[in-house]
Amino acid sequence: MAELIVAFDLPSGREALALADRLPRLRWAKVGPTLFVREGPALVREFTARGVRVFLDLKWHDIPNTVTGAVAAARELGVAMATVHCLGGFAMLQAAAGAAGDLALVGVTVLTSHASADFEQVMGRGVPDLGFEAERLARAALHAGLRGVVASGEEVGLLREALGADPWIVVPGIRLPTDGTDDQARTVSPEDAVRRGATHLVVGRPITAAREPRGIYERLLEAM
Ligand code: C5P
Repeated sequence: MAELIVAFDLPSGREALALADRLPRLRWAKVGPTLFVREGPALVREFTARGVRVFLDLKWHDIPNTVTGAVAAARELGVAMATVHCLGGFAMLQAAAGAAGDLALVGVTVLTSHASADFEQVMGRGVPDLGFEAERLARAALHAGLRGVVASGEEVGLLREALGADPWIVVPGIRLPTDGTDDQARTVSPEDAVRRGATHLVVGRPITAAREPRGIYERLLEAM
């Protein structure tokens, strides 16, 4: 059974908790850089005290020692899942995995904001196939001991086939047929994401901007 994660991309902790109050079946909250820089560990503690698991999405990419420290701090704080960036390199991924304990670390492969040309500029070489790059980085992440990866709805099927049944594949950019796409270029329905092998679906604006967030949350659960 796949899990539904709500991305709390809201300007303040007050607004985030007000939304959480309206979602009685909330199990996972994704906290990103804006909310974390504003509210810090107190908000993570508040979610966990309510029985909500926190996905801390700060996409760490630094020297192994620094990332290891961040992962250990997140684990001590009670964070359930966190992201590191696969381009930080194998030594960094391995060190991070070694500090994770029961925190599930997942690796970001290719940013969804990167088209081939952007990624070629970063790598300094031709990149004819972004799916190939995502698979290459995902294999490195799992070999280093990570629990899984973050992928777009387009890559999830390919990655599930390449990586086997066990790894977590966390998929953002989920939209119901009635939703707009916002700024997401590659969206996928909850049914298709699960069918293609996603274990965790990340949904932000369709819930955070809804007039009836609870109704949308329930519809997403039903579709999954
Ligand atoms: O509002 P929406 O449903 O588009 O939010 C998707 C969430 O997933 C946002 O918090 C965004 O930062 C995050 N995300 C993403 N693409 C990635 C990784 C994370 O959209 N590759």
